[in-house]
Parts: sequence; C-alpha cells; structure tokens
Amino acid sequence: MTGVFISFEGIDGAGKSSHIQALAQAFGASSSSAASSGRQVVLTREPGGTALSEKLRELILHAPMDALTEALLVFAARREHIVQVIAPALARGDVVLCDRFTDASFAYQGAGRGFDLETLSKLEHSAQDLRRLSADLASKIRLKHGILQPDLTLLFEVPPQVAAQRLAQARQPDKFESQDVAFFERVASGYAARAAADPQRFVRINGHQSLEHVRADVMAAVKARGYL
Ligand code: TYD
Repeated sequence: MTGVFISFEGIDGAGKSSHIQALAQAFGASSSSAASSGRQVVLTREPGGTALSEKLRELILHAPMDALTEALLVFAARREHIVQVIAPALARGDVVLCDRFTDASFAYQGAGRGFDLETLSKLEHSAQDLRRLSADLASKIRLKHGILQPDLTLLFEVPPQVAAQRLAQARQPDKFESQDVAFFERVASGYAARAAADPQRFVRINGHQSLEHVRADVMAAVKARGYL
C-alpha cells in the first residue's frame, strides 16, 4: 500500500491551518473505512518537521539573509524533512498532511522575492530526488520522473487584501507576514502559475467563504480522489 501525500498551500492569512487539523481528524476517524484502512496520519509542516529543519525554520522566518541563502536553507530543511519523515511515512503507507511544500518556495522565493525559477527548479529536482537515497524506499513511493511530489495540493485562495486584514489581527508577524500587499499579490500569482502548470495535482479552494463551506470543499476534494 503506497502512502498518500497531501500538501496545503496559500498566502499567509489564507486560513489553511484549521482545515489541516480537521482533515487529520477526518482521516483518523475513518481509518477503519475501506479507502484509508489502517493508515496512520502524519501531520507535519514546512519549513520544519524535523529537529534540524525546525532550527532552520527559525532562521528562515526571522533572520534577514541573501535570497540564494534563503532558497538553499528552505530546500535544505525540505531535504531533511523528506529523508527523515515524509519518505519513510509514505513507504509505510501513511497519509502525510504537510502544511506547505515546494510550491511555497516557487511562490515566496520565486514570485514574491523575484528569485530565479530556474535555480529553484534545479533545487527542487535534487532535494526531491529519492533514487540516490535508497532504491528500496523509492520503489515503495509514487514518484514523478524520480521526483517526490504531493499526490494532491490544496491551494487556499483569498484576496491578498483580505488576508492582510486577517493577519493584522494576528500575533507578531514574521519576516514574510510583515511584507506588503504587493508582495502577497505576487505570491498569489506564483501559486496560480504552479497550479496552472500541474492542474491534475492542484485543487484550488476558495478560502473567502464561511469556515463550513471551505471545510466542505476540502473534504469533497479529498473524497473525490478516493483518499477518504
Ligand atoms: P506558515 O506556514 O504560514 O506558518 P504559520 O501559520 O505558523 O505562520 O509560515 C511559514 C512561512 O514560511 C510562510 O510565510 C511562507 C514561508 N515559506 C517560504 O517562504 N518558502 C517555503 O518554501 C516555505 C515552505 C515557506
């Protein structure tokens, strides 16, 4: 049984976090159903998910740094996360729910900061290449041209102005959350471009509706794939 890898994306303030929790509960509650029989749920996040990657997260979110340094650290954290957590979980047949993954690097470092997409693409290909890690592990995981990618990516979309208002009421902003609305407009268009390039993987969720409606859309997207 191959695992299921679902990532959650969107600009800061798009409201994805509470839905990840709800989906984890739904998977936990239905672990005896046919679609997800016996699957464990691994709830994780990026940057982060391992002790080392969480240390890198602190730096990425709070220390000012050169754009290439930031991109390298984001992918270093990701590589470690894949090797230590995501790949072993998928090889066991678990459901991995990941709060952000590589699309965030293309949206934030690429579209938001203006860092070149070609370099990001090279980093994506080496950090997510599992063939050199272990042929045995790689044989148990669904790969796209040898590269690990989520099976499904839920992209939460809200107008950047609305997200900014939500963030203004939240806690102390980090390096990204304190960017202006124009930055988030670029990030949102970066996400839209990634979604357009891989329409089979992405489901775009309208995050600018009631919590119940968003939740229903999330559940419907996951059920439509037969994962729940
Ligand atoms: P976020 O996922 O929004 O966590 P929280 O809800 O705790 O604020 O924060 C992670 C931040 O890191 C977010 O602003 C986007 C940024 N980020 C990148 O810039 N590049 C990446 O590749 C990833 C995974 C995240």
